[in-house]
Amino acid sequence: MTADSPARSDAADLRIGDRQLELPLVHGTEGDDALDISKLRSETGLITLDPGYGNTGAATSAITFLDGENGVLRYRGYPIEQLAERSTFLEVAYLLIWGELPTREQLDGFVTEVTHHTLIREEMRHFFDSFPADAHPMAVLASGVVGMSNFYPDSQNIFDPDAVEITINRLIAKLPTLAAWSFKKAIGQPYVYPRNDLGYSANLLHMMFAVPSERYEVDSRIAEALDLLLILHADHEQNASTSTVRLVGSTHANLYASISAGISALWGPLHGGANEAVINTLERIVADGGDVQRWVDKAKDPNDTFRLAGFGHRVYKNFDPRATIIKAAAERVLAATGADDALFDVAQRLEEVALNDDYFVSRKLYPNVDFYSGLIYRAIGFPKNMFTNCFAIGRLPGWIAQWKEMIESKETKIGRPRQVYIGPATREYTPIEQR
Ligand code: SDX
Repeated sequence: MTADSPARSDAADLRIGDRQLELPLVHGTEGDDALDISKLRSETGLITLDPGYGNTGAATSAITFLDGENGVLRYRGYPIEQLAERSTFLEVAYLLIWGELPTREQLDGFVTEVTHHTLIREEMRHFFDSFPADAHPMAVLASGVVGMSNFYPDSQNIFDPDAVEITINRLIAKLPTLAAWSFKKAIGQPYVYPRNDLGYSANLLHMMFAVPSERYEVDSRIAEALDLLLILHADHEQNASTSTVRLVGSTHANLYASISAGISALWGPLHGGANEAVINTLERIVADGGDVQRWVDKAKDPNDTFRLAGFGHRVYKNFDPRATIIKAAAERVLAATGADDALFDVAQRLEEVALNDDYFVSRKLYPNVDFYSGLIYRAIGFPKNMFTNCFAIGRLPGWIAQWKEMIESKETKIGRPRQVYIGPATREYTPIEQR
């Protein structure tokens, strides 16, 4: 069995009136099995309807496995807890994209490639000048990525393995530079160039927080915490932004365009933008005197649009395993940086109150990856509007791996869902005088 050819065996019988249709069952390695409905419309004239795709598999995939009921997350079969403990972000990126943990030689080659592509084309300095200082870094990142494709017309062929590999390395190498430079532009400081003697996460910290007028030493504990966050965000199967990357990629648009679309999807506060929203919520609660119960009651009130950012998940109906690891890392980073932990205290009280409240328990709403991650970014010194840029840098290898699996799959066709039309039946055009 491969991602392209999962086991198919017994079938389910679908009876519609006097018609009967056998729907083959598709079995995965573990987790959800599926009904293959690829012949449903041609055989019955019917389609399925599943707003939000909560019951619909878009693809078979061999990259990431989630078990939402038991809080399990594995990249290419390796438990997230082991990778968080023992791996590095670039090693995890290699694993996700190329399918296996690299040998020492493979990893050194990949790190060297990435290290030597961190510069963005010098002309792009003017790209940043075209944005206002208060431009949201996600808007700059999404447009910077698709804009970058203009400099590499020779490597846009998505079916040329060499072109794809250099594009992958360029994207992974340059996203931190784009992100850091959008921050420097926003605060009016000089752009800081990447250094080839620094590791991936240390380089991001250097480009974000160094200034030309004095030495900047990266704190290795902070670089390790950032690398851990990037590992934990690296992939998450068919989430909204990954599904966006797959859909755009299925039109055979180039990889820069597909990734840019993924960045835009991630920006939403229901998705990757939640880490910024969590800090906004915690700050509002602190400013409001720290009455956690009042805000939990607001989140429960069906007439109040307020929702507890960082809580709930479409798939995890148990603890998000990433949140558990991030919470422990947040305690370490707050201790290392001596950052104000009033927000961390409110976050822990909020979690305690919510997890003992039937509204959250009955709906299986637990803290997700975004609930504590913002506290770490904030303690490191990232401004709130840069948090989702950090999420995008972490998620990039996952987007690339999912795009590559889709492009290489014999089963892939252009994504084009159908609909159930509920608009007006045919009617005649009326001249404006008669309206
Ligand atoms: C990410 O898909 C992924 O894997 C995403 C992600 C990844 O790594 O790619 O894990 C990253 O996006 C994490 C999620 C970050 N978003 C948030 O923290 C925003 C707050 N959460 C919610 O908006 C919500 O939980 C979602 C969007 C995450 C999931 O929404 P669903 O699955 O569509 O669930 P739902 O909105 O139908 O909620 C079910 C019930 C509803 O109440 P009832 O209609 O049953 O009365 O739970 C309630 C919701 O009102 N609810 C919440 C809530 N989340 C859901 N109530 C209060 N606060 C919340 N946070």
